[in-house]
Amino acid sequence: MMDRNAPVGVFDSGIGGLTVAREIIRQMPEERIVYFGDTARLPYGSKSQDTIVRYSRQIIRFLMTKEVKAIVIACNTASAYALDVVEKEYDIPVLGVINAGAHTAVQATRNGKIGVIGTEGTIGSGIYTKVMKQMRPDIEVTGKSCPLFVPLVEEGLLHDSVTDEIASRYLSTLKGRFIDTLVLGCTHYPLIRSTLGRLMGNDVTLVNPAYETAIELKTLLEKRQMTCLTDREGQEKYQFYVSDLAEKFTAFATSILPVEAKETRKINIEEY
Ligand code: DGL
Repeated sequence: MMDRNAPVGVFDSGIGGLTVAREIIRQMPEERIVYFGDTARLPYGSKSQDTIVRYSRQIIRFLMTKEVKAIVIACNTASAYALDVVEKEYDIPVLGVINAGAHTAVQATRNGKIGVIGTEGTIGSGIYTKVMKQMRPDIEVTGKSCPLFVPLVEEGLLHDSVTDEIASRYLSTLKGRFIDTLVLGCTHYPLIRSTLGRLMGNDVTLVNPAYETAIELKTLLEKRQMTCLTDREGQEKYQFYVSDLAEKFTAFATSILPVEAKETRKINIEEY
């Protein structure tokens, strides 16, 4: 019998998945979280499917040692490449970030033209197009990989003319397709949301899969009666693990989460 007060496992290639953890904390403040960021092996966005599946399996094996009750793959690239494979291998729910974002975009569009931006891996996999077309076959999806956004965000250039210039080049393709909805299909992109929104204009709805995924998790836990009932004494509510650069991670986590990241532990993920 699953312990409903067990934590939720959340993982990403690094810091980006904290945008998903942030939404889970906002929407379900009672839930405990064990977060793993694969900071030694990022980026995932330019790696092959075989590698991402191997990494994801190792991370899930690690999270299982923390007796998590559900796992959120808080990385678009890992969701694109590994969710279908790994969700069958465990008897706890495993969620990715793609379905929720795709679903919201299909509901939001008025003219049936949706843009998706993400890493080379996510866009190359065609997963958003596939999922959205299953929901509504007449939808027109234009994908655009934006590989420079991740390093720009990691350098802290959230409001900077360099980011503006690069974003306007990337987005010009999508503007020419008259999309009315844009999916921010990478963990880092919600952090430059204001730039993206300004460049796309008020008529384009931005969809943040991080937010939608937290709602999907909440609905799932409620439906299965797996929501946390108590704040257990003496147990760390939020635990952070990385494969490298723990202090840098702690600083970033504290800057974007609504709670203080007290400590980040470094582990050797290759042991799992
Ligand atoms: N977390 C990745 C994603 O959402 C972006 C960073 C990376 O490439 O590792 O696709």
